[in-house]
Amino acid sequence: MDRDVIIACDFSSKEALYGFLGKFGDIKPFLKVGMELFYKEGPGMVRELKEKGYKIFLDLKLHDIPNTVYRAMKNLASLGVDITNVHAAGGTEMMRYAKRGLEEGARGNLPLLISVTQLTSISEEILRKELLIGASLADTVKAYAQNTKEAGLDGCVCSPLEAPIIAGLGLLSVTPGIRMEGDGKDDQKRVTTPAMARELGSAYIVVGRSITGAADPAEAYTRCMKEFIG
Ligand code: C5P
Repeated sequence: MDRDVIIACDFSSKEALYGFLGKFGDIKPFLKVGMELFYKEGPGMVRELKEKGYKIFLDLKLHDIPNTVYRAMKNLASLGVDITNVHAAGGTEMMRYAKRGLEEGARGNLPLLISVTQLTSISEEILRKELLIGASLADTVKAYAQNTKEAGLDGCVCSPLEAPIIAGLGLLSVTPGIRMEGDGKDDQKRVTTPAMARELGSAYIVVGRSITGAADPAEAYTRCMKEFIG
């Protein structure tokens, strides 16, 4: 199984991102670009990063009717990204269409396609009272992961603590909620270290503030890689 550390690039502009990447010398980490940066800088920045040799997880969490997601994925695949994602809540058919869009739009490598089961901001109470879903959070996560598998996707975004369940389905897990030993939790509720995530079977860990907020981000990244990859 390929394993890697992905840096969550939660920056508000390309300038801020490039300033950060400038601290890495020749090292080119795997980067997660999310909605904030993508909606500001657009696909041009993603193409530029790919041309510079970075691997990109484009975290846009698509969720729409199957045909719209299919067409959007075709365009995203043409950017040459390495991982992208959808909300499993869009249903199995939507996920199948997403995969087909990637297959038809990819130039060269097919990006990995993963799903978001339940956002970590969704509680049992929100599930029941606002979304009117009677099943437990854990059961919806399991069912959505099963749908993800049936749709032919590669994996799920989840907590490292859920990685064994995802691995049991033959899916890979991409796991945020990572902190280096001694770092603060910030707004994350359940955190694990890179070493624990490795033991639990995460394929990719997504690390933001433990690296972006470090005094020496390149040193924090190298330490994280050593702990996770060995
Ligand atoms: O700074 P930190 O390491 O907490 O950043 C984690 C990254 O992973 C952020 O970009 C956050 O949006 C993302 N994420 C998360 N929990 C999820 C899904 C994504 O923390 N369930």
